[in-house]
Amino acid sequence: MITVRGIQELRSQIAAMKKQISKPEVTVGFVPTMGFLHEGHASLMKQARNKTDIVVLSIFVNPIQFGPNEDFESYPRDEKRDLAVAEKEGVDIVFIPTVKEMYPQPTKTTIQVSGLTERLCGASRPGHFDGVTTVVAKLFNIVQPDYAFFGMKDAQQVAVLTQMVTDLNMPVTIVPCPIMRENDGLALSSRNVYLSSEERTQALCLSRSLSLAEKASRERTDITIGELRSLVTAEIKKSPAAVIDYVEILTFPGLQPLGEKQQLNDLEDVIVALAVKFGKTRLIDNHRLQKV
Ligand code: PAJ
Repeated sequence: MITVRGIQELRSQIAAMKKQISKPEVTVGFVPTMGFLHEGHASLMKQARNKTDIVVLSIFVNPIQFGPNEDFESYPRDEKRDLAVAEKEGVDIVFIPTVKEMYPQPTKTTIQVSGLTERLCGASRPGHFDGVTTVVAKLFNIVQPDYAFFGMKDAQQVAVLTQMVTDLNMPVTIVPCPIMRENDGLALSSRNVYLSSEERTQALCLSRSLSLAEKASRERTDITIGELRSLVTAEIKKSPAAVIDYVEILTFPGLQPLGEKQQLNDLEDVIVALAVKFGKTRLIDNHRLQKV
């Protein structure tokens, strides 16, 4: 595994590796991350390793996707440990650019996907998705991957990036990967380290509420969107530390709002998406209610 910090060096390393592999079409798999890697990130690297010839991982805490009062400065970082995780997962190249390498001057070009970015996290974090789409487009131009792997933990991110790739004819396939969880259900996140042990216990209400929604959707296919929302909200409110940012039930990947009276059995693919604060830490989670 090699570690590269410069864009030019990365391009020549990928070109050199492609030459070394004697196959008519060598594929590049790309896993973009902000580091502080956990099993969720590792699952993306595993999928990339299985599917593609050359696996590139990027670690870059992207300043332009953080709001002024968010945790850019304090975002957890541990390069040494990240490199060990990447090595174990069989990554070929780790790209760790500096902010100066990625943004030698403030970017005057941004990519904005309309419609999909206005709800959910887009409403609570203005400008966040413009920062994500802009950096991912830059990374795609730098790495030129055939496949890029993203976790469904950030379902809205998957929907927005899939739209961007389609709209701009980018020659890359977005591969959505399942949410990885701790044994007790908490979705893995680099931000979980911020939680006190009491907050961590209370944060289990997120996955519990989603399991309840899944169970209800199987037992009562005529359940309405309003009833589902009440069920999920009531479960979260049982945890006194939980401050709800949103509980939304939308179509996926279109992220269209649904009427409270609409019944689940009349709908195709529905996602229950949550953002809840515990102290200063904002956690997100979601679950797709798919037709069987
Ligand atoms: P980051 O939060 O580091 O996440 C990197 C990737 O790991 C994303 O695709 C995310 O959905 C996935 N991931 C995180 N937790 C996961 C879990 N529990 N199970 C499965 N996948 C999980 O998302 C970003 O970084 C940034 O926005 C980025 C795309 C790198 C652009 O800066």
